[in-house]
Amino acid sequence: MKIAVVLGTRPEIIKMAPIIDEIIKRGIDLTILHTGQHYDKEMSDNFFRDLEIPAPDYNIRVGSGSHAKQTALMMDGIEEVLMDEKPDIVLVQGDTNAVLAGSLVASKLHIAVGHVEAGLRSFDMTMPEEVNRRVCDVTSTMYFVPTEQSAINLLAEGYSRKNLFITGNTVVDACFRHLEIAKKRGFDEESLADLDIDNMDNILTLTMHRAENVDDKSRVGNIIDALKELSDMNIIFPIHPRTKKTLQGFGLFDELNNLNHVHIIKPVGYLDFLQLTSKSTLILTDSGGLQEEAITLNVPALTLRYNTERPETVSAGGNILVGSDKDVILENANKILNDKEFAEKMKNAPNPYGQGDSAKLTVDAIQKYYDDGLLDIRAPENIMSSFERKMTSVDEDITVNEFEDRNNASIHMLFDGEKMRFPVDNLKLKGMCVTYDEYK
Ligand code: UD1
Ligand code: UDP
Repeated sequence: MKIAVVLGTRPEIIKMAPIIDEIIKRGIDLTILHTGQHYDKEMSDNFFRDLEIPAPDYNIRVGSGSHAKQTALMMDGIEEVLMDEKPDIVLVQGDTNAVLAGSLVASKLHIAVGHVEAGLRSFDMTMPEEVNRRVCDVTSTMYFVPTEQSAINLLAEGYSRKNLFITGNTVVDACFRHLEIAKKRGFDEESLADLDIDNMDNILTLTMHRAENVDDKSRVGNIIDALKELSDMNIIFPIHPRTKKTLQGFGLFDELNNLNHVHIIKPVGYLDFLQLTSKSTLILTDSGGLQEEAITLNVPALTLRYNTERPETVSAGGNILVGSDKDVILENANKILNDKEFAEKMKNAPNPYGQGDSAKLTVDAIQKYYDDGLLDIRAPENIMSSFERKMTSVDEDITVNEFEDRNNASIHMLFDGEKMRFPVDNLKLKGMCVTYDEYK
């Protein structure tokens, strides 16, 4: 079997690293293709170094540009590589332009697509990430979903449960594996070593790069107004290159940089960043990955957004959406700082993203699909057959598998009287309402 991994940005490198490790450990043939969307050493090479994964076999070097230009260049480069390499499956991760380009190209070459971190939905189609993840899901063969909630998002859009694998999120694997290594090594980045983080209290780690925040002067201005008033905190801000550029363009960079309690630094490597976040009292962010890492590292998070495709972090109690509203940011930050009970409750929120074995579960599922011949993409043989969708309530002792066998059916959705549940094979259906596709 040959697996191709397509990645292009910082979070994809971090979240694909545990899967790359697992593929190598099993001696499976691997091709790594970097789109070159992130190209600064601080946004790319340092992560291959810190996470100890091999350098990419190919780098398409698309660089920065408009969405259309970037995606088109990626598609052209990815197609050339895939036609040469002929992998059995292409893995993409998350919701970046690499995910859009990689999945479109692979599916048109009739190569199976595995979407790692599938099923997330912000339900906000103005976000480029929402478009990317939805398009990718349409083209995918295997869906590695982090939680039951993301699986249900896909069921609700009509995807078959058979192709959904609830694996947790590989970010937990990366966090667990590298935190101890990081602590033993200490800080590498001079900017962090000089700040003497180990002896610093009240650390607030800040990251923001989301287009809807940093490209909007009034939103980013409100956030900065809140930061000004958080002078009891030591705010450490490894700044994303996009944010640096827009803050400079708005004339806000120097204003923020001149505040004594705000330390703007270059983006730091993963081992440095894990140490920084794990020592933080509070994380203020609009990053997707950081919302997941915060709850994994037991650090309260305030998310600078009005929606999130990670609602599990909010319902678990570890994350609060504060948008870019100065008063809401300040109210919640001060509560975490001053109300011990409140802060403890946030810290102790259960992690919805698994035990750190997500990469293993993902590669297990791929191996099984390959062995069963399910990665061969062909036109369906039963194209002339039809199916009927039915809904029924079940009052006998029967499992999902038994129900499907008996009715020559595929269960589509189920409702346990209170909430939607994911139909795992051996789940007992008694008392539930089931929607299913019956094959004729
Ligand atoms: C991209 C992803 C976003 C992800 C983020 C992770 C898309 C649509 N967006 O956003 O989902 O959360 O990466 O960080 O795929 N730049 C540099 N050096 C670099 C990379 C970028 O200076 O190495 C600057 C350029 O000015 C560029 C800007 O940052 O125009 C934005 O970069 P881009 O990759 O287009 O989007 P991100 O905001 O990084
Ligand atoms: N990160 C890092 N160094 C930094 C800032 C972030 O290593 O200076 C890591 C962080 O731990 C997380 C990932 O980058 O795993 C998140 O990337 P980003 O916020 O750029 O993208 P998103 O997750 O929002 O797509």
